[in-house]
Amino acid sequence: MRFNNLNTNNRNINSFNDLDMEKIPEHVAIIMDGNGRWASKRGFPRSFGHNKGVSVLKEIIKVSKNINCKILTVYAFSTENWTRPSKEIDFLINLFEEVLKKEISEIHQESIKINFIGDLSPFPRALKSIINSSEALTKDNKKFTLNICINYGGRQEIVKAAKKIAIKTSSGELKPSEINEQLFISELATHEYKDPELLIRTSGEKRISNFLLWQLAYSEIYITDVLWPDFTEIEFLKAIIDYQSRNRRFGGIESLSNESFEDSCYSSLSKND
Ligand code: FPP
Repeated sequence: MRFNNLNTNNRNINSFNDLDMEKIPEHVAIIMDGNGRWASKRGFPRSFGHNKGVSVLKEIIKVSKNINCKILTVYAFSTENWTRPSKEIDFLINLFEEVLKKEISEIHQESIKINFIGDLSPFPRALKSIINSSEALTKDNKKFTLNICINYGGRQEIVKAAKKIAIKTSSGELKPSEINEQLFISELATHEYKDPELLIRTSGEKRISNFLLWQLAYSEIYITDVLWPDFTEIEFLKAIIDYQSRNRRFGGIESLSNESFEDSCYSSLSKND
């Protein structure tokens, strides 16, 4: 089924007749990058970019729900972000708290499950408390899941999983021979979700930046120069359409028989002869 008239946010997006509703990714991960640059370019403080970033995130959640994408996992604060000036860190911590306070009832009404991933221990008690109550309130919501990664690092997540497995092995609860990918996944923070089919990174940087290192193993990657505060629903749909044009082979090759492999060897040999 093709989507001709996508009604998102009361606007008709006629140009998206290339969106294939049968091939919507279930899980999209996003590195929301470029808030600071967006603000600086306009002569505003970086905080302005982070505020605009929140309204963009709200729009992207809406359009994701509309097209039936089920899970968004966003990178809001990395383990490396602690190296930023303390004023910016304080601003971001306060922003997370204020946004949650203001939005949680609408999030719940919209049947969105909210989940925070990362080591929450260094954050102030007020933020941890609103995170806990928001997660508890929305835990049974079924329409959509929003995972927000804060003080998250992919390497740290993998080390944590390895430690848990080592403890179980040394106590005899687990045999080394029982360790496999499935068991490892069960110790990751994202264990209840399928891996993202698509990673979007805004602002043009071509890095994964310690985000979901295990989970992104086979994800398609879409990088756009658009800065996060300018990332509209149309930009998001462009990313989905681009994803739909990819040929996901997971390391395999498409319908190539043994005979055609032999043929392709001979033909390249004969070309070089
Ligand atoms: C990256 O831009 C953005 C961040 C580190 C913060 C992202 C946070 C939000 C969009 C707010 C989300 C809010 C909630 C409640 C989840 P940058 O500061 O690295 O920009 P730059 O690369 O241009 O400096």
